[in-house]
Amino acid sequence: MKVGGMGAMTLFLSGCGLFALADDKKSSEALPEKGSVSGGSAMKIVVITSSPHPKNESTSIYLADRFTEGAKSAGHEVFTFDAANEETNPCRGCDKCGMDGPCIFKDAIENTLMPKMLEADLIVLTTPLYYFGMSAQLKIIVDRFYSRTGKLHGKKSIMMATAYNSADWTMEALANHYDTLVRYMEWQDVGQVWATGCGARSLVEKSEFADLAYKIGANL
Ligand SMILES: Cc1cc2nc3c(=O)[nH]c(=O)nc-3n(C[C@H](O)[C@H](O)[C@H](O)COP(=O)(O)O)c2cc1C
Repeated sequence: MKVGGMGAMTLFLSGCGLFALADDKKSSEALPEKGSVSGGSAMKIVVITSSPHPKNESTSIYLADRFTEGAKSAGHEVFTFDAANEETNPCRGCDKCGMDGPCIFKDAIENTLMPKMLEADLIVLTTPLYYFGMSAQLKIIVDRFYSRTGKLHGKKSIMMATAYNSADWTMEALANHYDTLVRYMEWQDVGQVWATGCGARSLVEKSEFADLAYKIGANL
């Protein structure tokens, strides 16, 4: 199968998840010891989903739900924000916020998500892979971090993404973006799930990534 030029773009349409775990070296391999991330206290967690698919068909929302089940089983409080269906607006770069809030938009990001993020211990970003990056729905949220960049420093974070393709470079660009974001935001990464070969609900449900997402939550 060709993977260069147009071949690269068609691979994710023809991939079938047979190699779901092959070369997936970037998902968290060793789970932190139970309680070591939270120090044993209940954490406030914000999970951001960003798939336009219905909740019961989406692969990335499935991972988010498995993570949430795990985190709740360990006594953590989880708030979920559905970036694909809430009222959101992309940053206009007006700089009225001076990177220190408030934002000119009084939408669900400013009124609902941001207050939750500011008080959260842990932020979980979840996305389907779209042209080797995050979905536009999630990018809108990330760009709006601008209005509170300094106030969001010091959070813990987790990244989870699903993709149809299963080549070893499938998640490379997004993983690099996430690393850079964590560095810039002065966050501490505490888990990553790069679910390659998971282009359909049935594939992610039976994949090891689903268990990994649950265990990362349960072990916090
Ligand atoms: C606009 C669009 C772009 C996509 N780009 C990629 C891609 O670059 N690589 C890939 O492996 N899969 C790609 N896919 C497939 C999705 O990542 C995959 O189906 C994923 O499981 C969808 O997750 P969801 O059900 O949570 O939305 C793309 C799908 C769409 C609709």
